[in-house]
Amino acid sequence: MRYGEGLLEEIRRRTDLVQLVGRRVKLIRKGRVMWGCCPFHAEKSPSFKVENERRTYKCFGCGKGGDCFRWLVETEGLSFPEAVEKLAAEAGVELPRWSPEDEAREQKKKSLYDIVELAAVFYQEQLLGPEGRAARDYLKGRGLDGAAAKQFRLGFAPADGKALIAHLTGHNITQEDMIAAGLARPADDGRPMRDFFFGRVLFPITDGRGRVIAFGGRALEADAKPKYINTGETALFSKGHNLYNFQMARAAALKAGTIILAEGYMDVIALVRAGFAHAVAPLGTALTEDQLQLMWRSAPEPILAFDGDNAGLKAAHRAAHLALPHLKPGHSLRFAFLPPGDDPDTFLAANGPAAMDMLLEAALPLSQLLWRAETEGKDLSTPERRAGLEQALGALVGQITDAKVADYYRRGFDQLIFENFKRRSAPARAQEGGRAGRSGGKFRGLPPRPQPGSPEAVSAGVQASALVRKGVMGARQAKEAELGRLLAAEPQIALWEGESLAGLDLTDPSLDRLRHELLNLAASGSSLEKAGVQTHFARKGMAELLARFAGPAADDAHASFQRAVFDLRQLAGGDSGQDARRLLERRKALSQNSRPGTQHPGDGHGNF
Ligand code: UTP
Ligand code: MN
Repeated sequence: MRYGEGLLEEIRRRTDLVQLVGRRVKLIRKGRVMWGCCPFHAEKSPSFKVENERRTYKCFGCGKGGDCFRWLVETEGLSFPEAVEKLAAEAGVELPRWSPEDEAREQKKKSLYDIVELAAVFYQEQLLGPEGRAARDYLKGRGLDGAAAKQFRLGFAPADGKALIAHLTGHNITQEDMIAAGLARPADDGRPMRDFFFGRVLFPITDGRGRVIAFGGRALEADAKPKYINTGETALFSKGHNLYNFQMARAAALKAGTIILAEGYMDVIALVRAGFAHAVAPLGTALTEDQLQLMWRSAPEPILAFDGDNAGLKAAHRAAHLALPHLKPGHSLRFAFLPPGDDPDTFLAANGPAAMDMLLEAALPLSQLLWRAETEGKDLSTPERRAGLEQALGALVGQITDAKVADYYRRGFDQLIFENFKRRSAPARAQEGGRAGRSGGKFRGLPPRPQPGSPEAVSAGVQASALVRKGVMGARQAKEAELGRLLAAEPQIALWEGESLAGLDLTDPSLDRLRHELLNLAASGSSLEKAGVQTHFARKGMAELLARFAGPAADDAHASFQRAVFDLRQLAGGDSGQDARRLLERRKALSQNSRPGTQHPGDGHGNF
């Protein structure tokens, strides 16, 4: 441990935990203790307690708790040392320096950061200058304009292979440091030292604090080999320990409730530009355990988006196996598959963000992916083969180190086996007999979902709203008005429900503007406290907009909001039966106060 307990205690003592937590959670005083709705799980009544006296927070619903450091680790995705550094700075506590060697290493790193930053600025300038014309055209051809280039600090490495060295030399940077920063290749075979990147569009890679530590470089020609090259391992950069766009994504991930992993840089940029700010990518390698842990620090169930081809499926299975030993209660993965031939970049360009939203919503839970991998397309017609399946599933469960999660997986798989092979009654089998015989008894994939309209699939709520849909269009406007009232009464809902709010198809332009403004505020880091929001709207001359939706505050605004969103999606029509079911399941899971990962296995979807 780098910091002593005495020092940590000093920082805890000087940190106003209530104020710190209050930046994200609305807290209400009851006696000496503050209460709020837990930010780590959806709940309707406050079971989340913050105590300045004890300097701890604790949720009695989901069990999450800790001190000020833990809070930053959990909500901002910082590492523990980063949390200590941040709070020490805020509290005015001086952190001790370490050994002289540590000190020297730190100094060295500091200067390397500066050098890489110099390079990033140089490359950015090159992209905008006369040398960068072809690269600009290339980016334009891929749908990226100057604003995108600025946002991601895209650059261009001139083709001559010595421009950066010349530039850095002008800044008195030694050749040794250029090589140490991964920016130049040492002289070899009689060739002089040369720039590491040349003739490529550059994607700066940042660390958790937003400092540039490396670059990914893409060739402009379609058939260039290699298509991308990345900075090698340096004192600043270790590709298996970082994720592209992680620093920006983790704040967004907290709001979205999840984080998306795509395969490439361009995918991340396309996702972010389409409104999915919580997107990251590995850095030229297959996903590592460290990268999984990074994502889990920002969201309990990251969604891994893979290409719909065989390679994508293989990568998904690899990631699934990587994750098994690290599963914890409420802490899993989901898998979204793009259509064959698409990656998120091309998919978004062709289909737009709403389609992407649906694709992400439909992401398979880890448990279901594993079940599919073991069963789909396999001939499981003999007892021996089924026993083999049981064994394979057992081996998977054996990989899970958390006893509780392992137990749920075991029960879930048992249930699926039961449903698929044992419960099917003799007459049912006889009916299918002919077909099964012809197909060689091939397993038919996932157990059937409940048919729309069957009692298990459709709740009274859905039926009611379906009736409304058949009836009057006015129902939709009424629901939108209700949504506006809830947002005006409790703007923080936009923070908690950003994703579903953003995805709504709204007909009322005023509500659309209100939503836009609130989501923007949320994205800029506002806590969306009601008073602050009112001031903001007044300052922007939009007080009237907010006033339009003013109304009595609901008792349980958050839950009412979720219901209204649910109903609105129904009313918005289209083939939303499946969506509705999914929402219903999710609501059920929320009201049971559990994540999908701990849902009852009997739902027959492999989703336990
Ligand atoms: P992809 O081959 O899927 O490319 O590589 P892409 O991201 O869709 O790139 P575009 O759209 O053709 O420009 C995914 C990621 O794998 C790494 C890069 O990080 C890339 O973003 N990669 C790929 C390499 O490091 N080297 C390569 O030669 C190719
Ligand atoms: Mn691509």
